[in-house]
Amino acid sequence: MFKIPLFDLNFGVEEEQAVLETLRSKWISTGPKNTAFEEKFSAMLGAGHALAVSNCTVALHLAMKILGIGPGDEVICPSLTFVATVNAIRYVDAVPVFADIVGESDLTIDPVDIRRKITSRTRAIIVMHYAGFPCAMDEIMKIAHEHGLKVVEDACHGPLSEYLGQKLGTIGDVGCFSFFSNKNISTGEGGMLVTGDDRLYDHAKLLRSHGMTTLSYERSKGHSTGYDVVESGYNYRMDDIRASIGIVQLDKLELDLRRRSQVRRWYEDAFAEVPGVIVPFRAHEGFVSNYIFAVVLDEAHGHRRDEIRDNLHKAGIQTSMHYPPVHRFSIFTGYSVPLPVTESVADRLITLPMYSRMTSEDVSFIALTVNGLLHGE
Ligand SMILES: Cc1ncc(COP(=O)(O)O)c(C=O)c1O
Repeated sequence: MFKIPLFDLNFGVEEEQAVLETLRSKWISTGPKNTAFEEKFSAMLGAGHALAVSNCTVALHLAMKILGIGPGDEVICPSLTFVATVNAIRYVDAVPVFADIVGESDLTIDPVDIRRKITSRTRAIIVMHYAGFPCAMDEIMKIAHEHGLKVVEDACHGPLSEYLGQKLGTIGDVGCFSFFSNKNISTGEGGMLVTGDDRLYDHAKLLRSHGMTTLSYERSKGHSTGYDVVESGYNYRMDDIRASIGIVQLDKLELDLRRRSQVRRWYEDAFAEVPGVIVPFRAHEGFVSNYIFAVVLDEAHGHRRDEIRDNLHKAGIQTSMHYPPVHRFSIFTGYSVPLPVTESVADRLITLPMYSRMTSEDVSFIALTVNGLLHGE
């Protein structure tokens, strides 16, 4: 057990009650709680449509399908992301083309490198808003318009995060969110696809449930009696037990994120006194989800990253590393290209604990421990 874990669920009796209520309603698969969750989510984001799905990986797969991405198409994406972002491209036999990140202070995809990677086969760009900090969306949307490309936002880290006042996930053609246990909104497993385009939404909804024209819940309510199957779809539905947890989690989200912003400010102040540690996005202004808190060791100390992590664990502080770059995984070696910034930064990254119940004492203890490990007691 770690004294300070990497994350903590903000679950309480509200979630327990919501689950009990759904169980007692005797409708536990996709039904009214899904609809309520989707409506609440789209209202909070100002998104045209939201479609609850079983996780974000399938939301990304659906995004590729509804945008018509197929064999041989090239999709530009970051390597500094969770592997699911890139797996989704391979699910439709498209080709991932990795672009570098901006730098050690901005870990999001670099629009300059996106431009360099465009070919006549490029069809789409998937961006990932690292820790909830927005990618350079103005520039990326401009590139997309110039070249007729689709844009998918992997917004797993960023529910309610904003880019110039607009919620992440609502800027590109499709936005995808995750409600995996350690995310800002947790339903165990779960995800959401958002889009402002009616046709894309209808298509995603069809594919979510086997390509069937009606859902069991609609039939059980007598809204329709039969169904047709018009396309080979999937079972990518979310059940109502999870959706009911999601609804309660949404009620808590804003306060949770405000507390995380405070935790981040404590971290920024504490690490201002620790030479050798770079806090990415330090200068960022705007509302951000702070899904994780990652730091980068500078060039002089970067080679000690693994040793520092081991010693933080010994001191009771859990850490992680977001992320091992995808282009280095065996399965992606065929798509590997030089990504000098990603490679340099990834080897110096450490993810430190971040959750809304953290105290200023927790943060001071972490910063003092890192300082002691880097520079001696
Ligand atoms: C950036 C990113 N993309 C995709 C995923 C996949 O989400 P899920 O686990 O809900 O499939 C995750 C999280 O796990 C993620 O952090």
